[in-house]
Amino acid sequence: MPVEPRKALDEVRPYIPGKPIEELRRELGIEDEIVKLASNESAAGTSPKAIEAMKKSIEEMYLYPDDVCYYLKRGLAKHLGVAEENIFTGNGSVELILYAPLAYLSSGDEFLTSEQAFLIGKISAKVMGAVFTAVPEKDYKHDLNAMRDALNEKTKIIYLDNPSNPLGTKHSRKEIEDFVYSIPDGILIMLDEAYYEFVRDSDFPDSIQFVKENKNVLILRTFSKIYGLAGMRIGYGIAPPEIISTIRKTRIPFNVSRLGQIAELAALEDEDHVSRTVQLIDEGKKYLSGEFEKMGVFYIPSCTNFITLKPGIDVKKLFAKLQKRGIIIRPLAGYGMPDFIRVTIGTMKQNKRFIKALKEILEKP
Ligand SMILES: Cc1ncc(COP(=O)(O)O)c(C=O)c1O
Repeated sequence: MPVEPRKALDEVRPYIPGKPIEELRRELGIEDEIVKLASNESAAGTSPKAIEAMKKSIEEMYLYPDDVCYYLKRGLAKHLGVAEENIFTGNGSVELILYAPLAYLSSGDEFLTSEQAFLIGKISAKVMGAVFTAVPEKDYKHDLNAMRDALNEKTKIIYLDNPSNPLGTKHSRKEIEDFVYSIPDGILIMLDEAYYEFVRDSDFPDSIQFVKENKNVLILRTFSKIYGLAGMRIGYGIAPPEIISTIRKTRIPFNVSRLGQIAELAALEDEDHVSRTVQLIDEGKKYLSGEFEKMGVFYIPSCTNFITLKPGIDVKKLFAKLQKRGIIIRPLAGYGMPDFIRVTIGTMKQNKRFIKALKEILEKP
């Protein structure tokens, strides 16, 4: 007789990430270079300082990592202007989207988010047997007023990504401040800022201020995007010490690899790489937006390293046709946007290849 899983798991659908390059190669037997524009990885690649640090330390990998990430936390604290007790380091920021619900949600509590926010929260909430509520976007931004109206006595966690994945839009300092200050006590607000380094606008919230004010806010950031270290899996949370020590109780020992800690610490100091990456993304964004405009394709102006667009043809067919040409993008049906796709901004060569393929397909759908 099979072992009976917890009832809550009946509701859980595993997360499907962007299709890996290796998988498409296997499926289609494609020999040419495959362009993956599906997971918002960095077009500028890995920080050279991180690569050098990793090479130097590769022979130490028989040792366990430093479980408390002492040097990495110290580096991050200095970089962010907070105390080390304000920081939690995780195996990707995604790990925190699991740990926070594990720490705070009991069966029947509510996890409130936007329908167009990163999807992992749905899995975590459902695993905990919590109620998952997602409010639809308005004008391609999270509908903060509707989210506030949806609050009720069961709401325990609010999760918001700013900028939003998949919309690529952001909320201003005032919008986030008004929202955070209007949330009653006893609710954890998770502000996921995975793409904040790409934002070129000074009107972005200084969310660390909420942590300094001891608000129930947990900020999530990552080394996967701007630093080009998605494969090393490191993200971190910034929150008041009480929240950090609560979440730490759910943590798996050695959750951050030894190589990862070394790479991230070096990457933090690689300001040249950060500026090169931002420049490359800005150039790519300008090019892609310009091409979409020339083609009359609707897109959502983005402040991240990806663009969401409505190609005007069947997205499933477009996805398949692009794959045949060795290009992987992300259809957005899972985010309630069946007519949209999300495209990571790649290198100029990759962007041009994508545009050429898109034009050919749109001309002969
Ligand atoms: C909004 C958002 N948060 C978190 C993540 C996951 O980041 P990490 O690689 O740090 O787990 C992503 C990845 O695409 C994301 O888009």
